[in-house]
Amino acid sequence: MQEFLTQEEQKWTADSFEKLSQKLEAECGRLKNKIPYIAEDGHYQIDWAEKDIAWWTNGFWGGILWQMYHATGKACYRNSAVHLEEQLDRALQDFTALNHDVGFMWMHTAVADYRLTGNHQSLVRGEHAASLLLGRFNPLGNYICAWNENRPGWMIIDCLMNLSLLYWAGEREKDPRFAAAACRHADTALEKLMRPDGSCSHIAILDPQTGELLKTPGGQGYAAGSSWSRGQAWAVYGFAISYVHTEEIRYLDAAKRAAHYFLTNAAATEYLPLCDFRAPEKPIYYDATAGACAACGLLEIAKHVSETEKRLYQTGALRLLRALDERCCDWNPAHDGIVGNGKVDYHGGTEQQSLIYGDYFYLEGILRLLQKDFFIW
Ligand code: GLY
Repeated sequence: MQEFLTQEEQKWTADSFEKLSQKLEAECGRLKNKIPYIAEDGHYQIDWAEKDIAWWTNGFWGGILWQMYHATGKACYRNSAVHLEEQLDRALQDFTALNHDVGFMWMHTAVADYRLTGNHQSLVRGEHAASLLLGRFNPLGNYICAWNENRPGWMIIDCLMNLSLLYWAGEREKDPRFAAAACRHADTALEKLMRPDGSCSHIAILDPQTGELLKTPGGQGYAAGSSWSRGQAWAVYGFAISYVHTEEIRYLDAAKRAAHYFLTNAAATEYLPLCDFRAPEKPIYYDATAGACAACGLLEIAKHVSETEKRLYQTGALRLLRALDERCCDWNPAHDGIVGNGKVDYHGGTEQQSLIYGDYFYLEGILRLLQKDFFIW
């Protein structure tokens, strides 16, 4: 258990893990080989292995399963995780549907498996995915190209999270090309996506021949110049991850600036973040997934700052996680999905939903407080 927690906070953390365990064991039994994404009416109705095996969120259930296997040693989690990883081979084989999100897909599955069990086939899958990601690097503009469909100049803040796959492959293979591409992408994100106040754009469209910045559209946020909260969370955690792998202080500084901006804005809605911090007052859309992801980033930052600074990030993370528990979580083990009040996209309908990555980051956050997490990134 993290030492900074009071007795009452320790109890809350332990109770939260107990509730997570009950819920996840029940889900694991119900899902069998389904790949979940959005819980609708308390159930994962769609199997993403059938609907779209290349979908970017298909690794998060694997991340949940490996975290639970690491924390509890229960075989049910490992067996399901191995099956999910094998299903993803179809996506690797028909790689044309894959994009920059191969990090989210294979860090949580094959690379986690390799790290925890040493399975050789998992190592091969992870290295295959890392090579695909490296292949998306544009050396003229120094960024990893986002998505497909004739968008060669697009880069996005989310991709900072996928850089872990490059750092991992480079460290393993002792091949500097991987980290060089990752750092150049992170530096371009610093220059083109981050703003002086600590907020960021979701998307930058660059001239793919020169890297010149052409446009910063609103992406999944409200509009150009606004501040999509999940994008802000990707910046908090994503720059922290680049710092972990490189020890370049500019990445820690960027993560801290993004964190200060995030916390200031989340405080205005009692730590359940709005979907966009710069949207009109109404309608109100929250995005709990942003709070869960940012909390993990804050706890990572806290490991790398001085004793006097730590408290800000630790307290912020705890407030974000507790707000989710108090205002968003469904703890009924008969229902699928844990953290509600998620939003895929500001303009994508009016529904608030339970999204698999919200559950992943909430679990990682609680495990971090318990000091039982496995560093997937
Ligand atoms: N990476 C896509 C999203 O955050 O929705």
